[in-house]
Amino acid sequence: MKKIPILLTAFGLSSCSAWVFAEADAERGAASAAMCMACHQADGGGMNIAGGESWPRLAGLSATYISKQLHDYKSGARSNASMIPFASMLDEQQIEDVAAYYASLPATQGKGSEGADEATLNRGQQLAERGDWSAYIVSCKSCHGSDSQGAGGDFPGISGQHAGYIEAQLQAWKAGNRKNDTQDLMGSIARRMSDDDIHAVAVWLASQSPAGN
Ligand code: HEC
Ligand code: HEC
Repeated sequence: MKKIPILLTAFGLSSCSAWVFAEADAERGAASAAMCMACHQADGGGMNIAGGESWPRLAGLSATYISKQLHDYKSGARSNASMIPFASMLDEQQIEDVAAYYASLPATQGKGSEGADEATLNRGQQLAERGDWSAYIVSCKSCHGSDSQGAGGDFPGISGQHAGYIEAQLQAWKAGNRKNDTQDLMGSIARRMSDDDIHAVAVWLASQSPAGN
């Protein structure tokens, strides 16, 4: 008896995906990416903008993660005035295609750690690799993967991301302005971090390699 609903579900899903979606296609995604380049740049490397709103590197991030963020901007779960209009222009197929396109690009090096002093970098490294139990801060790599270079589609690579972007996101979580992560994992960490710690971990991560290979 159990077979019937399973078969129906399987049929429903496969026919639905055949009708509505084709496979994600990075080449098609390149066409949509033309309107993203003004900020995320032709190589997907984005830009660190000191004192301004930094544009994150998308190149080499997981397609699942990029797709989730685009859906979140579109639905309003993640709010940002620069991104909402662009995410809203993309339909479902274009979201999957543009995510596959950026995921296929080689990761580029983050900026924003230039001139950071050694004490700040050491503190950043401690937080990223070992955490700080006296402040109940779990190490970043315990979720973000080996060398914080990303783990699957849920935990994005933050190593080699721009310092200005990392800092802005941690501040947004701390202030309650970004809250689109499951179970408030990031909010509960960011709220325990001082502004100095947020700055330290951002500049250290930006100085690290974005990819494991
Ligand atoms: C006007 C500049 C601008 C344009 C054009 C733009 N973006 Fe963005 N994008 C940003 C900024 C700024 C952020 C960070 C926003 C925030 O703090 O939430 C961002 C964030 C993102 C993120 C989240 C990245 C992450 O690591 O969480 C994705 C994905 C993204 N953009 C994809 C796109 C795509 C795809 C396009 C083109 C269809 C596009 N963007 C066009 C400025 C832009
Ligand atoms: C308990 C697990 C966990 C720990 C520990 C953790 N993170 Fe995260 N982090 C996440 C998840 C999950 C996301 C993705 C949120 C989403 O889906 O929007 C995330 C996203 C981020 C982002 C956004 C990246 C982007 O491209 O938009 C930054 C920046 C970040 N984390 C920094 C840190 C730093 C710095 C630390 C260490 C101090 C840290 N995280 C520790 C779970 C964790």
